[in-house]
Amino acid sequence: MNSLSIIEKKRDRRPLTSEEIRFFIDGYTRGDIPDYQAAAWCMAIYLNGMTRQETIDLTLAMAESGDVLDLSSVLGAVVLDKHSSGGVGDKTTLVVLPLVVACGVPVAKMSGRGLSFSGGTLDKLESIDGYNTQLTHDQFIAQVRDHGIVLCGQTADLAPADAKLYALRDVTGTVPSKSLIAGSIMSKKIAAGATAIVLDVKCGRGAFMQSIDDARELAQIMVDIGAGLGRKVTALISDMSQPLGCAVGNALEVQEAIDTLRGHGPADFIEHCLMVAGHMLRLAGKHDNLADSRPILEEKLRDGSAWQIFRKLVDAQGGDVSQIDQPDRLPTAPVIVDVAAPATGRLSAIDAREIGIAALELGAGRHKKEDPVDHAVGLVIHKKIGDVTQSGDILFTVHARAEEAARQASERVLAAHEWSEQITKPPLFYDTITNP
Ligand code: URA
Repeated sequence: MNSLSIIEKKRDRRPLTSEEIRFFIDGYTRGDIPDYQAAAWCMAIYLNGMTRQETIDLTLAMAESGDVLDLSSVLGAVVLDKHSSGGVGDKTTLVVLPLVVACGVPVAKMSGRGLSFSGGTLDKLESIDGYNTQLTHDQFIAQVRDHGIVLCGQTADLAPADAKLYALRDVTGTVPSKSLIAGSIMSKKIAAGATAIVLDVKCGRGAFMQSIDDARELAQIMVDIGAGLGRKVTALISDMSQPLGCAVGNALEVQEAIDTLRGHGPADFIEHCLMVAGHMLRLAGKHDNLADSRPILEEKLRDGSAWQIFRKLVDAQGGDVSQIDQPDRLPTAPVIVDVAAPATGRLSAIDAREIGIAALELGAGRHKKEDPVDHAVGLVIHKKIGDVTQSGDILFTVHARAEEAARQASERVLAAHEWSEQITKPPLFYDTITNP
């Protein structure tokens, strides 16, 4: 077996064996297979796809390329996790984790950073002074044992093959392969010890998957990987044609998550969180159906218990709790500009990708992995698709470091809005694919 013959086999559309995939992943992780061969392999996969069995083998090989956590001694038989495929304004984890924990199900979650137009949970959390996202394996375990909740970056050496391959895919035009995305996401969940996973597969302009059919296919692949590897997986296909909620940008999103946990978040975001949390409780075996868990989840938001869990999380990870108690003490931008609607009419589109890029250009995201992020900057949209605006109403607010950056963002975000009487209001969710 050698790397060249494995590349040629994939190039010629012949399925790879489990041994060949393992050989390639292990060799690349060790550094025996060079980047140029791995790039050619990824491109062959991108162009020719993988069978389900190949995708399952790829996932397992990447999951086992480093440490694989076993959290069952701390969390019991069901180790629950969630993952979003990445979007704009997606601060769901900040609300959903405390909600689920408030219902009596502990959750130990590892999250990632933003890349390109899509935000990342770790960047958002680091808006809070002192919040430590880099826990050791022992700290991770101790915190979930003591507090029932932990939310940090990847500990130790989890799925190193994915980290290496993802960086390579990012610069070789091979990120959008469904097999590679599915393998990347699922390998990290499996390496982190998850046995029950709710996947939030975003679909639309602000997502990797632009069409419902593509999102459905990606979701189905990940559910099948779960079935193949003995994991329970529910994939929700959710809308990302417009931003989720109103805030886009790190501290602004933390503020919106706090508002939501205190009972007054945007309606679409609350509904989204309740749905994701409901599915997590179902997979955890807490409630058989969403109708049973719904009133309980609503009560956990209303009575402040989810909010108290979030405070506990921030405290346990060294964050300044007084700052989240008074969110006006979170980082704020020096230039804040309200932009008015130029037209009276019904909003028919708010291009999530353009909003994400505007936030990125303001400094809220990063072009390259090593770029720093500016926690204070971003955007708050005040109207959603289907809302009627009067000319002069405040449409959105730009939070910028400088006047010129605010001007450029204003132009871009204004151009991302469309008005028409012919509208199709996107649903929050398009589909659910689940096993079991
Ligand atoms: N998120 C991941 O973790 N991996 C991908 O390949 C794409 C999105």
